[in-house]
Amino acid sequence: MMGVNGQMVSTIAIDGPAASGKSTLAKKLASKLGYLYFDTGVMYRAVTLAALRHGVPVGAEEAVSEIAQKLDLDVRPPSVKDGRQYDVIMDGEDVTWEIRSPEVDRNVSQVSMYAGVRDAMTKLQREIGARGAVVMVGRDIGTVVLPDADLKIYLDASVEARARRRFEECVSRGESPEYEDILEGMRKRDRIDSTRELAPLRPASDAIIINNTSLSVEQALEEVLELIVSREDPV
Ligand code: DC
Repeated sequence: MMGVNGQMVSTIAIDGPAASGKSTLAKKLASKLGYLYFDTGVMYRAVTLAALRHGVPVGAEEAVSEIAQKLDLDVRPPSVKDGRQYDVIMDGEDVTWEIRSPEVDRNVSQVSMYAGVRDAMTKLQREIGARGAVVMVGRDIGTVVLPDADLKIYLDASVEARARRRFEECVSRGESPEYEDILEGMRKRDRIDSTRELAPLRPASDAIIINNTSLSVEQALEEVLELIVSREDPV
Protein backbone atom coordinates (compact mmCIF):
# COMPACT_ATOMS: atom_id res chain seq x y z
CA MET A 1 0.00 0.00 0.00
CA MET A 2 1.57 3.29 -1.08
CA GLY A 3 0.36 6.62 0.19
CA VAL A 4 0.52 9.92 -1.69
CA ASN A 5 3.68 10.89 0.19
CA GLY A 6 5.37 7.67 -0.83
CA GLN A 7 5.33 6.28 2.70
CA MET A 8 4.61 2.61 3.03
CA VAL A 9 3.15 0.43 5.70
CA SER A 10 4.66 -2.84 4.61
CA THR A 11 5.40 -4.73 7.83
CA ILE A 12 2.62 -4.89 10.39
CA ALA A 13 3.17 -6.45 13.81
CA ILE A 14 0.16 -7.57 15.84
CA ASP A 15 0.83 -8.78 19.37
CA GLY A 16 -1.39 -9.59 22.31
CA PRO A 17 -2.49 -12.34 24.70
CA ALA A 18 -4.04 -15.66 23.68
CA ALA A 19 -7.44 -15.43 21.97
CA SER A 20 -7.54 -11.63 21.94
CA GLY A 21 -8.74 -11.82 18.34
CA LYS A 22 -5.30 -11.18 16.79
CA SER A 23 -5.53 -13.96 14.24
CA THR A 24 -8.98 -13.04 12.98
CA LEU A 25 -8.03 -9.39 12.69
CA ALA A 26 -4.67 -10.13 11.06
CA LYS A 27 -6.16 -12.54 8.56
CA LYS A 28 -8.77 -10.01 7.43
CA LEU A 29 -6.23 -7.21 7.32
CA ALA A 30 -3.77 -9.29 5.28
CA SER A 31 -6.45 -10.28 2.82
CA LYS A 32 -7.60 -6.66 2.46
CA LEU A 33 -4.03 -5.46 1.79
CA GLY A 34 -2.95 -8.49 -0.24
CA TYR A 35 -0.23 -9.21 2.33
CA LEU A 36 0.99 -12.49 3.78
CA TYR A 37 -0.72 -13.47 7.03
CA PHE A 38 1.81 -15.13 9.33
CA ASP A 39 0.81 -16.49 12.73
CA THR A 40 4.08 -17.12 14.58
CA GLY A 41 2.38 -19.02 17.44
CA VAL A 42 2.09 -22.05 15.12
CA MET A 43 5.88 -22.40 15.21
CA TYR A 44 6.02 -22.68 19.00
CA ARG A 45 3.09 -25.08 18.83
CA ALA A 46 4.86 -27.28 16.28
CA VAL A 47 8.00 -27.48 18.44
CA THR A 48 5.81 -28.46 21.39
CA LEU A 49 4.08 -31.16 19.35
CA ALA A 50 7.42 -32.52 18.15
CA ALA A 51 8.71 -32.74 21.74
CA LEU A 52 5.54 -34.49 22.93
CA ARG A 53 5.72 -36.95 20.05
CA HIS A 54 9.37 -37.75 20.69
CA GLY A 55 8.54 -38.37 24.34
CA VAL A 56 10.85 -35.52 25.36
CA PRO A 57 9.64 -33.95 28.63
CA VAL A 58 8.82 -30.29 27.96
CA GLY A 59 10.92 -29.43 31.04
CA ALA A 60 14.07 -30.71 29.32
CA GLU A 61 15.30 -27.38 27.95
CA GLU A 62 18.33 -28.65 26.07
CA ALA A 63 16.56 -31.54 24.36
CA VAL A 64 13.57 -29.35 23.42
CA SER A 65 15.88 -26.65 22.02
CA GLU A 66 17.69 -29.25 19.95
CA ILE A 67 14.38 -30.38 18.49
CA ALA A 68 13.53 -26.77 17.60
CA GLN A 69 16.84 -26.25 15.82
CA LYS A 70 16.47 -29.41 13.74
CA LEU A 71 12.79 -29.17 12.93
CA ASP A 72 11.85 -28.79 9.28
CA LEU A 73 8.95 -26.38 9.57
CA ASP A 74 6.92 -24.74 6.85
CA VAL A 75 3.79 -22.60 6.83
CA ARG A 76 2.12 -22.54 3.42
CA PRO A 77 -1.12 -21.36 1.85
CA PRO A 78 -4.04 -23.69 2.72
CA SER A 79 -4.33 -26.86 0.61
CA VAL A 80 -7.48 -28.24 2.25
CA LYS A 81 -10.85 -26.49 2.55
CA ASP A 82 -11.64 -27.36 6.17
CA GLY A 83 -11.65 -23.90 7.69
CA ARG A 84 -7.87 -23.66 8.00
CA GLN A 85 -6.00 -20.44 7.19
CA TYR A 86 -2.70 -22.13 6.27
CA ASP A 87 -1.03 -25.54 6.23
CA VAL A 88 1.52 -26.23 8.96
CA ILE A 89 3.96 -28.81 7.67
CA MET A 90 6.33 -30.43 10.15
CA ASP A 91 8.98 -32.78 8.81
CA GLY A 92 6.79 -33.30 5.74
CA GLU A 93 3.58 -34.00 7.68
CA ASP A 94 0.45 -31.86 7.83
CA VAL A 95 -0.02 -31.02 11.55
CA THR A 96 -2.31 -28.00 11.08
CA TRP A 97 -5.00 -29.25 13.48
CA GLU A 98 -2.88 -31.35 15.78
CA ILE A 99 -0.98 -28.28 17.00
CA ARG A 100 -4.32 -26.99 18.41
CA SER A 101 -4.79 -29.94 20.79
CA PRO A 102 -5.34 -29.31 24.53
CA GLU A 103 -2.05 -31.09 25.24
CA VAL A 104 -0.15 -28.63 23.05
CA ASP A 105 -2.13 -25.76 24.62
CA ARG A 106 -1.04 -26.87 28.09
CA ASN A 107 2.66 -27.15 27.24
CA VAL A 108 3.40 -24.50 24.64
CA SER A 109 4.04 -21.63 27.07
CA GLN A 110 6.82 -23.57 28.75
CA VAL A 111 8.44 -24.55 25.46
CA SER A 112 8.36 -20.96 24.26
CA MET A 113 10.36 -19.81 27.30
CA TYR A 114 13.56 -21.44 26.10
CA ALA A 115 16.30 -19.31 24.52
CA GLY A 116 17.31 -22.06 22.07
CA VAL A 117 13.73 -22.39 20.87
CA ARG A 118 13.17 -18.64 20.60
CA ASP A 119 16.43 -18.03 18.73
CA ALA A 120 15.58 -20.64 16.11
CA MET A 121 12.01 -19.40 15.63
CA THR A 122 12.92 -15.69 15.68
CA LYS A 123 15.46 -16.26 12.92
CA LEU A 124 12.87 -17.91 10.67
CA GLN A 125 10.32 -15.20 11.44
CA ARG A 126 12.77 -12.40 10.59
CA GLU A 127 13.54 -14.03 7.24
CA ILE A 128 9.86 -13.95 6.38
CA GLY A 129 9.47 -10.40 7.74
CA ALA A 130 12.37 -9.16 5.63
CA ARG A 131 10.37 -9.87 2.47
CA GLY A 132 7.81 -7.23 3.54
CA ALA A 133 4.09 -7.13 2.72
CA VAL A 134 3.37 -9.13 5.84
CA VAL A 135 1.01 -9.07 8.80
CA MET A 136 2.88 -10.98 11.50
CA VAL A 137 1.09 -12.07 14.65
CA GLY A 138 2.54 -13.18 17.99
CA ARG A 139 3.66 -12.01 21.42
CA ASP A 140 7.03 -10.36 20.70
CA ILE A 141 6.79 -9.26 17.07
CA GLY A 142 6.82 -5.52 17.79
CA THR A 143 9.34 -5.81 20.64
CA VAL A 144 11.87 -8.39 19.36
CA VAL A 145 11.20 -9.99 15.98
CA LEU A 146 10.44 -6.86 13.93
CA PRO A 147 11.37 -3.87 16.12
CA ASP A 148 11.31 -1.68 12.99
CA ALA A 149 7.84 -2.76 11.85
CA ASP A 150 5.97 0.05 10.09
CA LEU A 151 2.90 -0.39 12.27
CA LYS A 152 2.62 -2.11 15.65
CA ILE A 153 -0.70 -3.06 17.14
CA TYR A 154 -1.20 -4.55 20.60
CA LEU A 155 -4.62 -6.17 20.73
CA ASP A 156 -5.91 -6.74 24.24
CA ALA A 157 -9.18 -8.04 25.71
CA SER A 158 -10.39 -9.17 29.15
CA VAL A 159 -9.42 -12.71 30.13
CA GLU A 160 -13.13 -13.64 30.40
CA ALA A 161 -13.86 -12.45 26.86
CA ARG A 162 -10.84 -14.37 25.57
CA ALA A 163 -11.79 -17.56 27.40
CA ARG A 164 -15.33 -17.27 26.02
CA ARG A 165 -13.93 -16.88 22.50
CA ARG A 166 -11.68 -19.93 22.87
CA PHE A 167 -14.60 -21.90 24.38
CA GLU A 168 -16.78 -21.10 21.38
CA GLU A 169 -14.01 -22.07 18.97
CA CYS A 170 -13.72 -25.49 20.66
CA VAL A 171 -17.51 -26.00 20.60
CA SER A 172 -17.66 -25.12 16.91
CA ARG A 173 -15.07 -27.85 16.28
CA GLY A 174 -17.38 -30.39 17.97
CA GLU A 175 -15.48 -30.52 21.27
CA SER A 176 -17.19 -30.23 24.67
CA PRO A 177 -14.87 -28.23 26.91
CA GLU A 178 -15.57 -26.71 30.34
CA TYR A 179 -15.50 -22.90 30.28
CA GLU A 180 -13.91 -22.77 33.75
CA ASP A 181 -11.02 -25.02 32.63
CA ILE A 182 -10.37 -22.82 29.63
CA LEU A 183 -10.46 -19.68 31.79
CA GLU A 184 -8.01 -21.18 34.27
CA GLY A 185 -5.68 -22.38 31.48
CA MET A 186 -5.79 -18.94 29.88
CA ARG A 187 -4.86 -17.21 33.16
CA LYS A 188 -1.94 -19.58 33.58
CA ARG A 189 -0.65 -18.99 30.05
CA ASP A 190 -0.99 -15.22 30.45
CA ARG A 191 1.11 -15.44 33.59
CA ILE A 192 3.87 -17.48 31.95
CA ASP A 193 3.87 -15.50 28.68
CA SER A 194 4.05 -12.10 30.36
CA THR A 195 6.51 -12.86 33.16
CA ARG A 196 9.06 -14.94 31.25
CA GLU A 197 12.57 -13.57 31.09
CA LEU A 198 12.97 -13.67 27.30
CA ALA A 199 10.73 -11.67 25.00
CA PRO A 200 7.81 -11.42 27.45
CA LEU A 201 4.38 -10.44 26.22
CA ARG A 202 4.12 -6.65 26.45
CA PRO A 203 3.28 -3.80 24.12
CA ALA A 204 6.24 -2.18 22.32
CA SER A 205 6.70 1.44 23.40
CA ASP A 206 5.51 2.57 19.96
CA ALA A 207 2.60 0.12 19.68
CA ILE A 208 -0.99 1.29 19.35
CA ILE A 209 -3.04 -0.49 22.00
CA ILE A 210 -6.55 -1.54 20.95
CA ASN A 211 -8.94 -3.02 23.50
CA ASN A 212 -10.94 -5.63 21.65
CA THR A 213 -13.22 -6.73 24.52
CA SER A 214 -16.35 -5.30 23.00
CA LEU A 215 -15.37 -4.55 19.41
CA SER A 216 -16.69 -6.51 16.45
CA VAL A 217 -14.15 -7.86 13.96
CA GLU A 218 -15.24 -5.16 11.51
CA GLN A 219 -14.78 -2.39 14.09
CA ALA A 220 -11.27 -3.56 14.98
CA LEU A 221 -10.38 -3.86 11.30
CA GLU A 222 -11.72 -0.38 10.63
CA GLU A 223 -9.56 1.08 13.42
CA VAL A 224 -6.41 -0.49 11.99
CA LEU A 225 -7.20 0.54 8.43
CA GLU A 226 -7.69 4.11 9.63
CA LEU A 227 -4.30 3.98 11.34
CA ILE A 228 -2.68 2.78 8.12
CA VAL A 229 -4.30 5.52 6.07
CA SER A 230 -3.30 8.19 8.60
CA ARG A 231 0.30 6.99 8.53
CA GLU A 232 0.50 6.82 4.78
CA ASP A 233 -1.36 10.03 4.06
CA PRO A 234 -0.80 12.30 7.06
CA VAL A 235 -2.90 15.46 6.74
O1 DC B 1 -0.90 -17.41 19.68
P1 DC B 1 -0.86 -18.85 20.17
O2 DC B 1 -1.84 -19.14 21.28
O3 DC B 1 -0.95 -19.86 19.08
O4 DC B 1 0.61 -18.99 20.82
C1 DC B 1 1.05 -20.18 21.41
C2 DC B 1 2.16 -19.91 22.41
O5 DC B 1 3.34 -19.54 21.73
C3 DC B 1 1.88 -18.84 23.44
O6 DC B 1 1.64 -19.42 24.70
C4 DC B 1 3.11 -17.99 23.51
C5 DC B 1 3.99 -18.48 22.41
N1 DC B 1 4.35 -17.46 21.43
C6 DC B 1 5.47 -16.72 21.70
O7 DC B 1 6.09 -16.89 22.74
N2 DC B 1 5.90 -15.79 20.80
C7 DC B 1 5.22 -15.60 19.65
N3 DC B 1 5.67 -14.69 18.78
C8 DC B 1 4.04 -16.34 19.38
C9 DC B 1 3.63 -17.25 20.30
